[in-house]
Amino acid sequence: MPYRTIIEPFRIHSVQSIDLTTEEQRTEALERAGYNLFGLHADEVIIDLLTDSGTGAMSSEQWAGMMRGDESYAGSRSFYRFEEVVKQITGFSEVIPTHQGRAAERILFSVMVDEGDIVPNNTHFDTTRANVEYRGGAAVDLVIEEGRDPGTVLPFKGNMDVAALRATIEEAGADRVPLVMVTVTNNSGGGQPVSMENLRAVRAVCDEFELPLFLDACRFAENAWFIKQREEGYADRAPRDIAREMFSLADGCTMSAKKDGLSNIGGFLAMNDRTLADEARNLLILTEGFPTYGGLAGYDLEAVATGLQEVLEEDYLRYRIRSTAYLAEKISAAGVPIVQPPGGHAVYIDAAAMLPHIPPHEYPAQALAVELFRTGGVRGVEIGTVMFGKPDPDGGPDEPAAMELVRLAIPRRTYTQSHIDYVAEVVIDVAADAEEIRGYRMVEQAPWLRHFTARFEGV
Ligand SMILES: Cc1ncc(COP(=O)(O)O)c(C=O)c1O
Repeated sequence: MPYRTIIEPFRIHSVQSIDLTTEEQRTEALERAGYNLFGLHADEVIIDLLTDSGTGAMSSEQWAGMMRGDESYAGSRSFYRFEEVVKQITGFSEVIPTHQGRAAERILFSVMVDEGDIVPNNTHFDTTRANVEYRGGAAVDLVIEEGRDPGTVLPFKGNMDVAALRATIEEAGADRVPLVMVTVTNNSGGGQPVSMENLRAVRAVCDEFELPLFLDACRFAENAWFIKQREEGYADRAPRDIAREMFSLADGCTMSAKKDGLSNIGGFLAMNDRTLADEARNLLILTEGFPTYGGLAGYDLEAVATGLQEVLEEDYLRYRIRSTAYLAEKISAAGVPIVQPPGGHAVYIDAAAMLPHIPPHEYPAQALAVELFRTGGVRGVEIGTVMFGKPDPDGGPDEPAAMELVRLAIPRRTYTQSHIDYVAEVVIDVAADAEEIRGYRMVEQAPWLRHFTARFEGV
């Protein structure tokens, strides 16, 4: 198109109204929820950027597909359509549907990881880490050094540190490393992409030690778009083709279809190893369901099959990545410190830089997330010491996380440019009074994934 404005490549067909809550209502809601934004009622939120997972709008083709869903318990038509689409996109021969990404993780690690094993990843997502640790394994994050520094601008900050990967395998012994994982894009490290060159280098190390490589493929299409934009030799390749090359370097993948499946629920585990897949299917039957539905309705399988095709359309990916960058540019131009360059699905505010007066054990990113909600009804999520810090067994301060971020994740095809302009205004307003913001202490926490249910009090 000859014009600069990249428009939403869709028009709105059905709408949901938003309650415009007052600051007083939101302050009461925060007290009730123990200052944990997961405890809010969604109706108390004006713009919900808690997650891009399962929160997007589906297309009329997806809704139409849902009407065609075949709900047969075994061998449903919808499963075979789903299986065919996943095979075409990934090239993997074994396709196991699951209700979401973490179910695929739990099954994969149950068949591969034993007590004392080590699983390297660029950065484990929280559920991935928890599922490795639940099996008695150690989840080791090996993203490149620059990937831990919010200010450094690099095209592929999600890359794995290949030298560190080799050193980790040599030190542990290859027999203690059941698999290597790479997360595309690297959600917990700022939604940063991984280059094809890096995937190839990781593959070479895996080959050297005869280890399987699995992708955490939740945002495979966004990663493919970044490769097209930023890596030499890919500008003229279709996203589908690039995605296929990414998958061809791996032995399997876990997938949450709530992201690049453009669906509200769903996921899968896919691989080439038939024996391993059969073991996984036996576990699937125990907790998820029969292998041709895996915890999903036939209509969900239809929605995911269509979503996986739509997500690879160039107009969609161009709009998607550009609209995230738009929010990043707006707040960054006003002096708000963010992870640079912006990721594919989210903008990450650097709370450690914005609130240097709050130490990590008083949770600066949690404090900022609370203020964004109180001030403007914008709900983001803390990705810092609440999520990834380690509690001290003797009751001392937590061991801090590597970064203190507030992630503003953009649901797919859901908010318009004026919603995003409003978010930028709220962020800039809160940043102007940053020195007034105070920290929190955690007064209740669960042993696993504490960020979902913890309660806080102001310091
Ligand atoms: C990189 C990554 N892996 C795994 C998951 C888990 O997927 P699900 O929420 O569908 O269980 C997520 C979800 O946000 C994710 O971002």
